Amino acid sequence: MDIIEIIEDKKNKKELSKAQIDYWIEEYCKDNIADYQVSALLMAIRLNGMSKREIFDLTEAMMHSGEIIDLSSIVGVKCDKHSTGGVGDKTSLALCPMVASLGIKVAKMSGRGLGFTGGTLDKLESIPGMSISLTPEEFINSVNKIGISIIGQSNKIDLADKKLYALRDVTGTVDSIPLIASSIMSKKLAAGCDCILLDVKYGSGAFMRTKAEAEELAKVMVEIGCHFNKDVRAEITSMNQPLGLAIGNILEVKEAIDTLKGKGPSDFTELCLSSGTTMLLQAKIFTDKDEARRALEQSISSGSAYNVFLKFIENQGGDTRYIEDYSLFPKAMYSYDVKADRTGYITSFDTMGLGLLSMHLGAGRETKEDSIDFDAGILLYKKLGDKVSKGDKLMTLYTDRDKMSSKVAQALNCLTISEENIIKPKVVEEVISYDSINKKFVIESE
Ligand code: URA
Repeated sequence: MDIIEIIEDKKNKKELSKAQIDYWIEEYCKDNIADYQVSALLMAIRLNGMSKREIFDLTEAMMHSGEIIDLSSIVGVKCDKHSTGGVGDKTSLALCPMVASLGIKVAKMSGRGLGFTGGTLDKLESIPGMSISLTPEEFINSVNKIGISIIGQSNKIDLADKKLYALRDVTGTVDSIPLIASSIMSKKLAAGCDCILLDVKYGSGAFMRTKAEAEELAKVMVEIGCHFNKDVRAEITSMNQPLGLAIGNILEVKEAIDTLKGKGPSDFTELCLSSGTTMLLQAKIFTDKDEARRALEQSISSGSAYNVFLKFIENQGGDTRYIEDYSLFPKAMYSYDVKADRTGYITSFDTMGLGLLSMHLGAGRETKEDSIDFDAGILLYKKLGDKVSKGDKLMTLYTDRDKMSSKVAQALNCLTISEENIIKPKVVEEVISYDSINKKFVIESE
């Protein structure tokens, strides 16, 4: 086997064999193939694509390049949830305790934020004392004891993805559906859960710019799941505005707490209820959609989801006094109100622009080495389709960095106020699953 031949084959639009894919991944992980050769191969894949069979084989080779987590000692159905990343996306913080309170076992490994998107681990670490590094035994015992644990992704999982993602990042080969699908699914499959719900986002604050691209990516990942005998479903959601009203770590933790108490923003609450319903059906805890949704609503109104959240934080060393009274969280040193410069309706957001702004205020990292200010971020007061009058507060910017007043004009440029209104967007547009008996996708429009 020879890497030059593999590059040539992909350059000439030939299908790579399983043996060629296994060889490339195995030898690259052993540092026996140079980065420049793998870069050439990645670009050939980016330009010429991959067949379904090649994508399945690549996912399998990547999955086996590291440890496969064994969750068999956890009693019950283990369900994972993954978002392709967005702005203000704190879904795991509220959704996971909700479904755990109804019997799903949440054994979740999450990542940190980079660039314009935030990460669940950073949000959790903004709670004083909270630890996201448990030993494998502690992780499994926690899930068996209280139904939920969220920790940092093990360094031993999917070694190929770590190397390939770093290379893709600097060679213009991130935006390839076969490469994104195999990257996400190899990690999720190695993490050992029985079923997986994917939230594939599209729009101005997402990897996938259009709904059609998001659907294409979602279908590939759902089919990969089916190939590996897992119940994988995908929801298509819009990132044409931030999720909820809060962007930034402590701000988002507070919003998740509000949501668990039934006082969250309507779009974020709807996403949690809709995702939770799909997860409960996947785990076969409910067979009826309406009953599953009612149970989730009840988990909020009865306080049971909030109580699971408290136990989860306490179990991982977090100081629950901050959860019970979130006025204890530190506050940013500076705040700037952004006001409407005209009367009209909010008709568009530059979601990525707001994510980048939040990062510059201190809430995110530009490079992996940067530190973050947990209290920095943006609190929105208006969403798409809302009416505003000139002088109304649209958002507040929070930062610990001085001389940030110029960011107010930048923030105002991240939205459009028009005379004509738009139709308010749906939160979850579709849920995609695969009917393996009839060999076809099932697309439910919400
Ligand atoms: N997230 C991943 O884990 N991999 C990709 O390639 C893109 C997003």
